[in-house]
Amino acid sequence: MSFSTTAVVGAGTMGNGIAHVLALNGLDVTLIDVSEDALRNGTDTIAENLARQVKKERITAAEREATLNRVSTHTDLAQGVADVDLVIEAVTETTEVKGPIFETLDEAAPDHAILASNTSSISITWLAAQTSRPEQVIGMHFFNPVPIMKLVEVVRGLETSNGTHDAVQALAEDLGKTPVEVNDAPGFVSNRVLMPMINEAVFCLMEGVADEEDIDTVMKLGMNHPMGPLTLADFIGLDVCLGIMEVLHRELGDDKYRPCPLLRKKVTAGHLGRKSGQGFYAYDG
Ligand code: CAA
Repeated sequence: MSFSTTAVVGAGTMGNGIAHVLALNGLDVTLIDVSEDALRNGTDTIAENLARQVKKERITAAEREATLNRVSTHTDLAQGVADVDLVIEAVTETTEVKGPIFETLDEAAPDHAILASNTSSISITWLAAQTSRPEQVIGMHFFNPVPIMKLVEVVRGLETSNGTHDAVQALAEDLGKTPVEVNDAPGFVSNRVLMPMINEAVFCLMEGVADEEDIDTVMKLGMNHPMGPLTLADFIGLDVCLGIMEVLHRELGDDKYRPCPLLRKKVTAGHLGRKSGQGFYAYDG
């Protein structure tokens, strides 16, 4: 199946990035969130990031305008998905929030629609079990910043059909991304590998092995990572990192995934990284 009308649920960093890429590639997108403020922030960010692409001569001003015209907004989830071929959910990473959303999507989206989740660690099989169409539920895990990062992890739940998988893989390719098929397992591949590395960097900091800048410099210059692990943790959000470590620890039952106490302390203090202005580093504005 090919898609023409889509909806993205959640207008935050990942949601607006996904809407940006869908609309830039010619798809109509309804961006859905609970408040007009959240939607305005999301569409403002899309407009700014498209302007950045025009400035860098990656796209034309006319393409920017056409892209923005393909994005509409809605605060009502059921109405927003009533006429779409594909929904990509990108809301807060908790089962309490995602579960009811998948129940509503199942009731309100057309029978043929595929329900995808951008979750970074919640089981696709569990999300599928909240619906009556588990064969049409799949993970479509994008990376921040979505307009730039090439990878999409395409995550098969236990009952995801081949047809759903093939359609989503083809879409990811049409969006200029490289899809990688992975099975449903805690953290998939990306966060199973990335988060323990970040967590270990926080242990290094807590134990005084080196300071923030030096830990990051080791990984940037020694391993050619574009950002050091502590800068990257601030970029992702320390609450998100902690949440993923907790999923790995709980679901895999191995203490090698124990979240570092300093990571937990930072989150308790509200030091969530760039979005709160303070994480391992301080940020202006
Ligand atoms: N929208 C559009 N364009 C953007 C953008 C955005 N949001 N953010 C950056 N860009 C563009 C810039 O305009 C620039 O474009 P050109 O190549 O045309 O000049 C390019 O991206 C590079 O940006 P900058 O020059 O500003 O900065 P940089 O070279 O330091 O790169 C970065 C920035 C791409 C973020 C780079 O530091 C990087 O790759 N960092 C690692 C990011 C990463 O690991 N992301 C994954 C996080 S994990 C995740 O998302 C999933 C999860 O489950 C937790």
